[in-house]
Amino acid sequence: MILPGATLGLLGGGQLGRMFVFAARSMGYRVIVLDPEADCPAAQVADRHLAAAYDDEHAMELLARECAAVTTEFENVPAASLEYLAARVPVRPGANAVAIAQDRALEKTFLREHGLATARFAIVDDAEAIASALREVGAPALLKTTRLGYDGKGQARVDDLDSAQRAFAALGGVRCVLEERVALQREISVVLGRGADGEVRCYPVTENWHRDGILDISLAPARVAEETRTHAMSMATAIAAKLDYCGVLAVEFFVSSDGRLLVNEFAPRPHNSGHWTLDAAITSQFEQQVRALCGLPLGDTRVFGGAAMLNLLGDLWHGAQASAWENILRQPGAKLHLYGKQEARVGRKMGHVTCLGETPELALESALRLKGELGIS
Ligand SMILES: Nc1ncnc2c1ncn2[C@@H]1O[C@H](COP(=O)(O)OP(=O)(O)O)[C@@H](O)[C@H]1O
Ligand SMILES: [Mg+2]
Repeated sequence: MILPGATLGLLGGGQLGRMFVFAARSMGYRVIVLDPEADCPAAQVADRHLAAAYDDEHAMELLARECAAVTTEFENVPAASLEYLAARVPVRPGANAVAIAQDRALEKTFLREHGLATARFAIVDDAEAIASALREVGAPALLKTTRLGYDGKGQARVDDLDSAQRAFAALGGVRCVLEERVALQREISVVLGRGADGEVRCYPVTENWHRDGILDISLAPARVAEETRTHAMSMATAIAAKLDYCGVLAVEFFVSSDGRLLVNEFAPRPHNSGHWTLDAAITSQFEQQVRALCGLPLGDTRVFGGAAMLNLLGDLWHGAQASAWENILRQPGAKLHLYGKQEARVGRKMGHVTCLGETPELALESALRLKGELGIS
């Protein structure tokens, strides 16, 4: 067990890292953040910030020397850096799990090999492979780059061979996955913590709505059939077990309109759809990450009532609503979180609000009311 007072290393300095740092520090740990960007959200609140590249030798050496354990909040850290660190300190989750999660082709192949249902897909290595991939998958489809996509970026809609070829060129001619476009009944996710001893704690299933490819609202506990809930949790638990995972893992699912439960993707870290756990669960996903990393007993994931989380994107800042904060702060049951980002770009995640209610329906109602009041479409 790595006890409070120890120093933890964190790769990545975005908002997920910031919330990890808050959790770690409130439990008495120190945190060193590695992120190339000066003044990034986690660096603002960490004990120390190394502003260097993720493969900077000096930074790696320092993390290995100073930290009792290292985790990540960002899946695009080079696997070689994780392997270098892992030879000297516990790194959780491990390089193998991160390498799979950061590459859609590896991720989907992993799921298929383990018998976990996904949308139909085919890997497209070059322009010649497009036609056969499209025959295999069928239209309509989505073409996604295998690496570095997020918030719907690095994806294009495909309706026929011509649009598939144009999409492949527009995405830069890099390796892609062509995927069946699923008619969605809804989207759900499971966030879980898994300890080094294999113990798993799942949070209640969350319902998610996206706008322009970006998560807009998450609602927990999800209003889905008991069967869907347990099936999703058992699939997420199986993924974690097959990855021999230690840490917090988030699994996104599609429920198709013809009733299939399909794994979309997974993230080797806390997830936007688990932010509500900060205010509504006994243990937040970030505290769970600290506990799993340090070999502490996993925390209680129970929730009382319902929670609806509304993302606050940079667009809201351009509306220059001075009254926005006042509006949120006056709302009963609403909790405001801001990430300390200086530049409010359109579509950039700047913060979120969690609306608490006695039931998920009441929580959702108040999030939708707030959304209307803030003028978010
Ligand atoms: N195959 C698909 N069928 C239908 N909708 C999809 C599909 N893939 C992605 N989407 C929609 O786009 C969103 C973002 O896609 P996702 O693959 O999760 O990438 P990201 O890494 O950007 O989160 C999904 O949450 C879903 O709303
Ligand atoms: Mg996603």
